[in-house]
Amino acid sequence: MSSPDQKTYYVTTPIYYVNDSPHIGHAYTTLACDVLARFKRLDGYRVKFLTGTDEHGQKVEKAAEAAGVDPQSFTDEVSQRFRTLAATMNFSNDDFIRTTEERHKRAVQDLWVRLQERGHIYLESYDGWYSVRDEAFYGEGELVEKDGQKIAPTGAPVEWVKEPSYFFDLSKWQEPLLRFYEENPNFILPDSRRNEVISFVKGGLRDLSISRTSFKWGVPVPGDDAHIMYVWLDALTNYITAAGYPNQDGDYADFWPADLHMVGKDILRFHAVYWPAFLMAADLEPPKRVFAHGWWTNEGEKISKSLGNVIDPVSLVETYGLDQTRYFLLREVPFGNDGDFSHQAMINRMNSELANDLGNLCQRVLSMVVKNCDGAVPTPGAFEPSDQALLDKAHAMLPAVRAHLDVQAFHKMLETVFEVVGDANRYVDEMAPWALRKTDPARMETVLYTLAEAIRHAVILLQPVMPDTTAKLLDQLVLGPDERGFDRLNPACRLTPGTPLPKPEGAFPRWVAEEGASQ
Ligand code: MSP
Repeated sequence: MSSPDQKTYYVTTPIYYVNDSPHIGHAYTTLACDVLARFKRLDGYRVKFLTGTDEHGQKVEKAAEAAGVDPQSFTDEVSQRFRTLAATMNFSNDDFIRTTEERHKRAVQDLWVRLQERGHIYLESYDGWYSVRDEAFYGEGELVEKDGQKIAPTGAPVEWVKEPSYFFDLSKWQEPLLRFYEENPNFILPDSRRNEVISFVKGGLRDLSISRTSFKWGVPVPGDDAHIMYVWLDALTNYITAAGYPNQDGDYADFWPADLHMVGKDILRFHAVYWPAFLMAADLEPPKRVFAHGWWTNEGEKISKSLGNVIDPVSLVETYGLDQTRYFLLREVPFGNDGDFSHQAMINRMNSELANDLGNLCQRVLSMVVKNCDGAVPTPGAFEPSDQALLDKAHAMLPAVRAHLDVQAFHKMLETVFEVVGDANRYVDEMAPWALRKTDPARMETVLYTLAEAIRHAVILLQPVMPDTTAKLLDQLVLGPDERGFDRLNPACRLTPGTPLPKPEGAFPRWVAEEGASQ
């Protein structure tokens, strides 16, 4: 149960289009949110972690048509694949929203009416370019010519649209948006992306077409159901639907504004320009942050269906293991940058950091404890400066890791913990507890205790990234469910000497190439 003054944390993934099966991009975005959600829960927050599927619009309508089924059955089926992915990747989302749900239609229509009542919507006609693949409108000046075809800056084809349309008065929001970015310098991260958005907005904003009449698959405009709402207005609203909007009590009061919308760099503009403008116009609060992460390539090549090099997250998990995959994706690339997936890079990290550094440390220390300390947590004597240095460094991790995760620097979080893992490995070698066993058994106990404490700290902090493996390691330290939170990361909650420990089992297998395989 939560107490009324418990801190809250609301994190969201984009809702995914159901025109396609889940791929590495979806898994990556949601993984980052999962780690934040788990971290905040362990840090004492009441968390709401939302993901879901974006099921309306022309793109999905066309995909259903191509599959020869009606859009609802099509979205029912594909949406389910995203739920399955969440289970495979061990994502801990608290809610899964579908834009075809009643609660959502109600919210979008309510938002529309609020915007209309405040005079921000007018009816005219849209004459211009539209890309179904991006579900986005483009100005003539943004397009390039390729083989006699007009192409959007994203490489997507565009088509000329001429139809009646409702507009949102986005052009009026240029100044308020710039002021908002100025007053909330961390609203858009990383900084390079923030600068891009600011210069886009400074370049001037045109009013935005927010309804279409040429297809049916979507939420009708209240009072004029010849019009279907623009899929991005529909989709963005999911973040408040899931907080209970239009009801502004309860969850909405507790969780809105969201702490973080995590998005890929390709959809930043929708989240950092349109969305706060809609909300301000409706007299609702904008979210606190939008973080735009980078894109993965595969062995140096852009990932695309036509190249046939799409990375399937399920096969990564089957090949390398779940926690190994989770670790790799967040460790390999400074979060926010683009990154390259390669089999070799995956194996290197798996073998050197997980199997050698962390796995061996735990295995060596826990086996020595079980063998040489009567199968129980050893009893330390007075700590020497070298012991204290390692313990101090272990205690210093939590504030450092918190600060890194507050700016979504997952790679730095992992670096911080693995620095202590490295220190602990060097300390084992220097102290040589196996030699102390004969010369000074009491000192050996102090050394092994110090190591077990360093391990306890590292493993507790790694739980958000590698939930299964760390759970096994914490079982080996015989820590109960209420002994795994970050409130236990202090000297007062040290391991209790004399606690019987089980025989340890290796937690991180090495990758061994199969006989005859090319790798
Ligand atoms: N439906 C919209 C989002 C609406 S949110 C209100 C959408 N859906 S999507 O299915 O296309 O989203 C895909 C997500 O995966 C985006 O965040 C995108 O950046 C990310 N990625 C797609 N390919 C990717 C890579 N190759 N690498 C990393 N992420 C990538 O956009």
